[in-house]
Order: sequence, then C-alpha cells, then structure tokens
Amino acid sequence: MCGIVGYVGKKKASPILINGLLKLEYRGYDSAGIATIENGNIFCIKNKGRVKELQNSKDIDKLNSTIGISHTRWATHGKPSSANAHPHLDCHKNFAVVHNGIIENYIELKNFLINAGYSFSSETDTEVIPNLIDYYYSIDKESGPDKFVNAVHKAILDLKGSYAIAVLSKYEPDTIIVARKDSPLVIGINNDEKFIASDIPAILDYTNNIFILDDGDLVKITQNNLTFYNKNLEKIDKKSKIITWDAKSSDKGNFEHYMLKEIYEQPTAIRETIGTRIVPNKKCDFSDINISKSYLSEISRIYIVACGTAMHAGVCVKPIFEKLTNIPVEVDIASEFRYREPLIDSHTLIICISQSGETADTIAALKNAKANGSKTIAISNVIGSSITREADYTLYTHAGPEIAVASTKAYTSQITLLTLLAIHFAEVLDLPKTEIIDSLKNELLEIPSKANIILENVDAIKDFAKKICKETDIFFIGRGLDYAAAMEASLKLKEISYIHSDSYQSGELKHGPIALIEEDVTVIGIITDRRLLDKSTSNLQEVISRGAKTLIITNQDVDKKAFPYIYNIPKIHPFLSPILSIIPLQLLAYYVAKEKGLDVDKPRNLAKSVTVE
Ligand code: M6R
Repeated sequence: MCGIVGYVGKKKASPILINGLLKLEYRGYDSAGIATIENGNIFCIKNKGRVKELQNSKDIDKLNSTIGISHTRWATHGKPSSANAHPHLDCHKNFAVVHNGIIENYIELKNFLINAGYSFSSETDTEVIPNLIDYYYSIDKESGPDKFVNAVHKAILDLKGSYAIAVLSKYEPDTIIVARKDSPLVIGINNDEKFIASDIPAILDYTNNIFILDDGDLVKITQNNLTFYNKNLEKIDKKSKIITWDAKSSDKGNFEHYMLKEIYEQPTAIRETIGTRIVPNKKCDFSDINISKSYLSEISRIYIVACGTAMHAGVCVKPIFEKLTNIPVEVDIASEFRYREPLIDSHTLIICISQSGETADTIAALKNAKANGSKTIAISNVIGSSITREADYTLYTHAGPEIAVASTKAYTSQITLLTLLAIHFAEVLDLPKTEIIDSLKNELLEIPSKANIILENVDAIKDFAKKICKETDIFFIGRGLDYAAAMEASLKLKEISYIHSDSYQSGELKHGPIALIEEDVTVIGIITDRRLLDKSTSNLQEVISRGAKTLIITNQDVDKKAFPYIYNIPKIHPFLSPILSIIPLQLLAYYVAKEKGLDVDKPRNLAKSVTVE
C-alpha cells in the first residue's frame, strides 16, 4: 500500500524522507517521489520503481530544503509510471500533495476543475486534490494567516472516499498541512523537528513521541508548532503517546529477511502477548477491558471477523471459545461479513482481529456491527491504530512491529491472546471449566520454549524446501485444528513462493480434490490430534497410493516406515496445536521462496496493510 513521509525541521529534509520511505518499502509499492521547497518554488522528483532509484537520481543532491513530503505509491488509478507517482502538483505548481486512499468522486471533481480552467497530467484520482486546493486558495479574497489551512479544509470537504494527505505550498514555504479520513497518519515530534508518516516505523529512527491523528483531523505543522483542527476547523487539543517500539525492533538485525526474523521472534512475541495476564492461582487479568458477567450472560453469539491470516487465527480459536464459554461462534471474512447482512444485535459480540488495525474491510465490518447495536472488541498489534479507536474494547497482542508482508508472529500471538480471552470469558461467567482452563494456562506458558525447539531444528525443513521448490501445486491437509493450520500454511506458501497451493479437510479429499493427486504431487499433512491419528494417516496413505509425495508435521506416533518424511513437533494441548504446527510450515514457505530467489519480504502484488477495499 502507499506510504507517506514528511519532515519539517532544521536538517536537510531529503535524506530523512528517503530513509523513511525505505522503512516503508515493506508495505509494497511500485513508484516513489519527493517534493521540497527550493528557493520559494516546489521541486519534485519521482519515478516508477524502487526508492533506491529515487535516492540515486542525479537531482536528489540539489535538494537542500529543510521541509518536504514524500511517498511510495501502490497503483490503484492508473498504471505505475512516473506521471502517476506522487507527489502531485496542481497545474499552476503552487501546491504539492501526497495521498494515501481513494477519492471516489474524483471524476466529478476533475470535470468541475477542467471547466474552471485546470488541466491534468496523470491518470490518478489524487491529482484533483492539489488542483482543488489551488482553486479554493485562488478564489479566497482574504490574505490572512489561515488562507492555506482554509483552502485545504474546503478541498477536503469536497472529497468522498478515504485519504491521508500531506500538502506543501509555495505560499507558506515553512508549513506542511496534513489531514486524514479512513487512512492512517501520525506526526512525530522531537524538539524543533516534526515528522509525518502513514506508519510509525518510518520515523522511529528520530522519535517515539507520536500524535496519532483521528478521522477528520487537520493539522498545520511548522518547525516549532503544531495546530490541530477538527473537521469543522475548530482548534482542538491533542496528546501525544510514547510508543514503546524502538528503532531496532523494526530493523532486520542479523537476519536476511524480516520474515525470518519475525518467525524467530515468536517465542518472545508469545511471551509478551501473555504478559501478566496469567496470574498464578488467580483468574486471568483482563482489567483493561472490564467485561461484566451480566453483559456476557446475555451474549447469544460471537462473530470473529478478520481477513487473511488474522481470519485464520479466528478459525483456530472458534472451538476454544465454544468449549470454554458455551457460546456459538461464527468466523467471517470481513469483506463478506460487511455485505452479507449478518444477524447482529445487542446480544451478539463482534471480535475483529487485525494486526495492522488498518484493514479497510475489517474496520468497515466493525463499524457496521456497532451501528447495529453490537459491542465490539478489536484485537490489534498496533497501538492507536484505526480499528482500536472504533472498537468498544481493545486488546493488543504486543508482538512488536511486524514488517514482512507475510504475517507470522502476529498469527501465533493472536491465537495466544484469543485463547486467553476465551479463558477470561469462562472465568467471568463462572463456568465449571477449571480443569481445562488450568491445563490451557500451563500449556500456554510452555509454548515459547516448545517453539524454540522447532526453531532450532530447521535442517529437515530446508531439505524439504529444496525438494519441492520446483512444484506447481501443493496441497495441505488436516482435520479440525490441523485443518485450520493447513489453511494458514497454504496461504503462507502461495503468497511468498507463488506456488499454487490449497488446503483441504483430510476427510473431504475423497469428495473431489483427490482427482488432482497424481504421480509426484506434494501433499503436506498435519496430525496433532491423537483421536484422529488413524483417520488422518489413512487419508495420507490414499494420496501416497496415487503417487503423491508427503511430508507430515506431527506430534503423534506416526508409522515411520509408511511415511518417508515426518517432522516432529513437541506435544501440546490440541487446542493450542496450530501455534506450534504452523512454525515449520512458515519456515518451509520461507525456504521455498528463498530457494526460488524471490523477494520474500516484498511479494508481488501484495501490501502489508490493505487500507482500501
Ligand atoms: O493487518 P491485518 O491483520 O488486518 O491484515 C489482514 C491480512 O491482510 C493479512 O493477514 C494478509 O493476509 C497477510 N499478507 C498474510 O500473510
């Protein structure tokens, strides 16, 4: 997705902007650009391709200004090209704008502006914004200090859709104005320096003192001042937050890729997620949300709503919630949930999971549910993210920044936190579940050391990755929660290795998918449930007898003679098994992609957070 970085201070802006854009590369993009004010005029450099090319462009050294805005673009309206890259200037070159989001009524606005004498040089929706600002600036007969702010405010009132924008003006060369609606934006401060970013890691090298903007906020930023306005252009107060992530936590460290680093961070991330919630001989500590027994007793259904990996975490915890709370649970894909008119009222509880907290579909689903009278809980990894400001209650995973597009530590942390939440609900409801609750608590505490055992045993996975990296189709199968983990394993493999893969419930194979099994097709089975061991191994025998090669991830006693490749993981409570069984499969996806020489952290066509529909 697109990224925004801005700076106003006393240092040369361009290296700070480029450094910030490099930190946002993980979000996925196809072009990059920068605008500063040099000798009273806006100077803009942009290109299709990587930030490195922007950094190496011959004109970059000519930028000496201490103010600037910059952007990485992920094409929505118009192909990746230098003309479509941001920043965009109005046709009179008075204003420059970088924009994340989508302007839905841009055609109408463009026609209006063309009739008013404006011309356009890109295919983007964004280009209407600087031209609208110029239009309102030019028709304002006042010449007071608020003229720039007024013009931006009038322009955004005309916009339909989503936006985070940063605007430079040659009329006020020491000011940047920013505004947001349905797209994230933060401002960092460090004495007389101000930093703007769509994502906190872009500016963590300089400050962790951050203002998180709300929808409707508009801010006038100079080296020494921040003036906050609400959507009616009334001045408002805002408090900054100290973000505990440090710059190092968003670096690759000694790892070749962020994904590998984040896979290895899972023991720590899970420990941090558990934090102080498990208290010896006491109920779990969820004093941060304070959900009452009388409220929970009235809940007739829980919906868990999310996208991608976060949705897969929901699938893993559905049986845990049902077992511990006796409340039926449905797991929905957010983009479907928001349009399918689910039965929602004050007796339903919606739990939305989003690592980034910025996924447009998940936020929309949460807002719909709220509007229909349901209470909402957001599970997120990003402090102050949009979803956390919409939800009635928020719980953070505390997994640390997840930079790789392929989500890993967020998934295992989400399952951990949701399991704790299910335990908490059972404890609030005073249900007679002490035995299973005690066992889950003990086993959760053991997960970090068990995960480390897997992380120290990667040679077999690397070997298997070499064997399968030239495949075109790979199947993952399992039953129950092993199927839930298979879904996630399949997503992981396809998104970074570009190998087509699918996941099936083992018992479903005979109902169709087995038609695809032929000589040398790879089938990966997960078996962690003792009750289903025989049935699951029979299903694998069936594919072997049709020529398939198999890998089994298991903590059960699987017959070594019958199955050539078995990867053993530590024993764990069946409810928690996906937290461990996914780790070798995350590693497998990683090593297959690496074997194929692919850009693991920046898979094609994908973005870290999907902030548009
Ligand atoms: O930030 P979110 O958890 O809301 O993101 C949801 C999905 O976009 C995300 O999990 C996606 O599927 C990942 N690329 C999976 O690795």
